[in-house]
Amino acid sequence: MAFTITDVSSLPVDIHSFGNPGESRVRHVHLDLTVSFKEKKLKGSATLALEPAGSKLILDTRDLNILKVNGSQDGFRVGPRDPILGSPLEIDLPVGTRSVVVEYETAPQASGLQWLSSAQTAGKHSPFLFSQSQAIHARSWVPIQDSPGVRVTFSARIQAAAPLTSLMAAIQLAPGRFHMPWPVPPYLIALAVGELQFRPLGARTGIWAEPPILDKAASEFADMEQMVQAAERLFGPYRWGRYDVLVLPPSFPFGGMENPRLTFATPTVLAGDKSLVSLVAHELAHSWSGNLVTNATWRDFWLNEGFTTYIERRIQEEIYGRRQSEMEFAIEVEELKDEMKDLPPGDQHLAIDLKGRDPDDGMTGVPYVKGALMLRGLEEKHGREKLDAFLKRYFDRFAFQSIATEDFVAALHEGFPQDDVSEWLNQPGLPKDVPKISFDFEPNPKKTWATQEWLHWLRSQPKPSTAAHLRDIDMQWDFTNSGNSEIIAQWLEMAIQAGYEPAYPRLEEFLVEVGRRKFVKPLFEALVKAPGGLERARNIYAKAWSGYHPITQATVDAILK
Ligand code: BES
Ligand code: ZN
Repeated sequence: MAFTITDVSSLPVDIHSFGNPGESRVRHVHLDLTVSFKEKKLKGSATLALEPAGSKLILDTRDLNILKVNGSQDGFRVGPRDPILGSPLEIDLPVGTRSVVVEYETAPQASGLQWLSSAQTAGKHSPFLFSQSQAIHARSWVPIQDSPGVRVTFSARIQAAAPLTSLMAAIQLAPGRFHMPWPVPPYLIALAVGELQFRPLGARTGIWAEPPILDKAASEFADMEQMVQAAERLFGPYRWGRYDVLVLPPSFPFGGMENPRLTFATPTVLAGDKSLVSLVAHELAHSWSGNLVTNATWRDFWLNEGFTTYIERRIQEEIYGRRQSEMEFAIEVEELKDEMKDLPPGDQHLAIDLKGRDPDDGMTGVPYVKGALMLRGLEEKHGREKLDAFLKRYFDRFAFQSIATEDFVAALHEGFPQDDVSEWLNQPGLPKDVPKISFDFEPNPKKTWATQEWLHWLRSQPKPSTAAHLRDIDMQWDFTNSGNSEIIAQWLEMAIQAGYEPAYPRLEEFLVEVGRRKFVKPLFEALVKAPGGLERARNIYAKAWSGYHPITQATVDAILK
């Protein structure tokens, strides 16, 4: 059975972009940029090829200093700065103009870049720069129509002083020269510059990292080639050539980012026992759901993350077995139910209304776990064979396109005419027929427990725990000195809530070292709720903030304001 629905040609309106792709549409971008660590700036030009090209072109920018367009200081205007969207750059296009050259430089506080001093790296010798463009931060370092519906190919020349290595999520043609021949949404344009080394893992897989952590990263992610093979068996060919992972310094604000051919990852998943590597399965899964078939607007974010979370579970089951995969799913569902208690009903829909909001606000467990549960429900109803065949066709049918929730629904109805998923899409909470993800957690701790068993056990301690109780279990299991980021973050949150002082030095150390928002946010939230905690929070933040990414800084600023 093949899909017969018509082509996805007209784009839904993206409320998070000023771009006018219906009139003039960017198709290819060439970047020629010099990296200045001294000024914390990228400087150079972006050459944009247009098709169609109307009488004007509107691009997204945020805090960019636009110097010239097509060699001139006239013929363009930068509009007022919207706090969420940035500023439109409107360019007049004389008849017949099919390309524009924008000369510009970025701001030191560009929201999509983090500039690290050498002291903030593992190697301590050289500074480090990395980008994080999702959701709408590409515009802070590339003038572009920054909507996931506007796919572009790109090429680049990046100049950085020796001994620095530049990497992009693209094919590397020569040092500092890159080409991305497959059209990608702008949020997948990515750059990193630092003292980096490569270690192959398989014929098409490998690790990039700073030399001091390369060994650790390579052994943690040793199963990567197998993961790619498992994903291909399930959902069809991997279409991006290589699959490498770049391990970033601990200030990286996310767990992982699925930049094509080159996942960016936090070093906080290097637990030493592979217990957190489902992150790689997740980012790899985006090579199908997200990078191949992309949400057309941020309302449809669940198409990226829900599918990916489901596929992540499937890959994990192939490599690490059903038990591990169900255990992680069960934990995520626990977390989702907890989180939904505090979410406004509208934010519990899969397709959410982000009008007037930053799309980063949509990053709750709902698109991820509720989305994955919906697919799990389809699996249980129709069987794996049919669902997998459906997914394979879905990826083929929409490959290299950006689609809306409505396109998915139309495809679903072709595959499974009886199915109605509207309650999942447009109602809060979980539908009555939500699949049960049950896992029998053992009640009594033992040394051999997996990370997720410890997390479940810690979360099931009496709430609030007393400091005396935490001291008892700390004596037995030494949580305060745990080197596992998930366990220590959970433990520190409980320590704050219980006023367990022996953990405070470790709390400060962790928050100064790690800028991953998932950990930083709940710890500062717990601090400001604790007696005397606001002052403690301010003191810690004074030491930590200069090492935090702009995204993490904004999150903490909002908590402490
Ligand atoms: N694409 C996301 C990260 C993201 C989402 C960045 C929205 C900016 C805006 C990535 O694939 C992701 O989901 N990362 C998770 C880890 C994953 C294992 C659930 C993260 O960073 O926590
Ligand atoms: Zn994801």
